[in-house]
Amino acid sequence: MFCQRRQQVPALVHQGTPTANCEHTADMATPIPHITLHMVASLDGFIASPDNELSWMEASWAVYEKGTELTDAVVAEFLQRVDCYIMGSHTYELALELGWPYGDTRTIVVTSRRLAATRDSVEFHAGDLTALVRGLGQQNAWLVGGPTLYQEFLRLDLVDEVCLSMAPVLLGEGTPFYRGGRHKLGLKDMTAYRSGMIELLYEVIRH
Ligand SMILES: NC(=O)c1ccc[n+]([C@@H]2O[C@H](COP(=O)([O-])OP(=O)(O)OC[C@H]3O[C@@H](n4cnc5c(N)ncnc54)[C@H](OP(=O)(O)O)[C@@H]3O)[C@@H](O)[C@H]2O)c1
Repeated sequence: MFCQRRQQVPALVHQGTPTANCEHTADMATPIPHITLHMVASLDGFIASPDNELSWMEASWAVYEKGTELTDAVVAEFLQRVDCYIMGSHTYELALELGWPYGDTRTIVVTSRRLAATRDSVEFHAGDLTALVRGLGQQNAWLVGGPTLYQEFLRLDLVDEVCLSMAPVLLGEGTPFYRGGRHKLGLKDMTAYRSGMIELLYEVIRH
């Protein structure tokens, strides 16, 4: 399992692998989506540097010999299991600027503006986020930023899992991962990679 594919896509959208827990067993009569929030953060908890420079996410400056290697085969297998990405409009615009890393996978951009559709796989959603999630059906959706959008998802209790890829770097300043109310999390898995990135996977505890 992994939450990163450094060579294949810009680090802005490091990916994660849906786990067995992502498969719905609760109420099979009512299809429900599974929402995983995934972000890359520095060790001191920032998800963006003040100038939005991204090289710190690459984590290519040291090797952790005991770490897991991320192979193309594992990445490809993971990509097949993501049904859709959800992102805020700022993250969308940044991704377009960097070179679209989401392939042809369905991507829902949340915005109140009328943005130009750039690809067939991209659609736009305005307004009620709960309605958006309900409309997804039984899908594995990856919420890939930014903080404005995912903090709203968390506030509305729409996130099932949080996957944090922690890069081996201290930024000292930038955009914090989270500023919001308290949520209890249960650790489900963790993986250390050869790059020194550490993937932490949590479920959101709802009781
Ligand atoms: N480290 C990582 O893994 C990672 C990943 C992604 C992004 N980032 C960083 O995150 C930053 C961008 O995040 P951000 O918080 O500024 O922006 P964002 O969440 O990507 O987008 C915010 C925009 O989304 C729309 N939006 C959000 N909630 C909405 C709602 N409830 N209803 C309707 N529209 C809504 C609004 O768009 P309109 O204004 O168009 O209406 C809002 O201005 C960048 O610095 C980027 O580098 C980091």
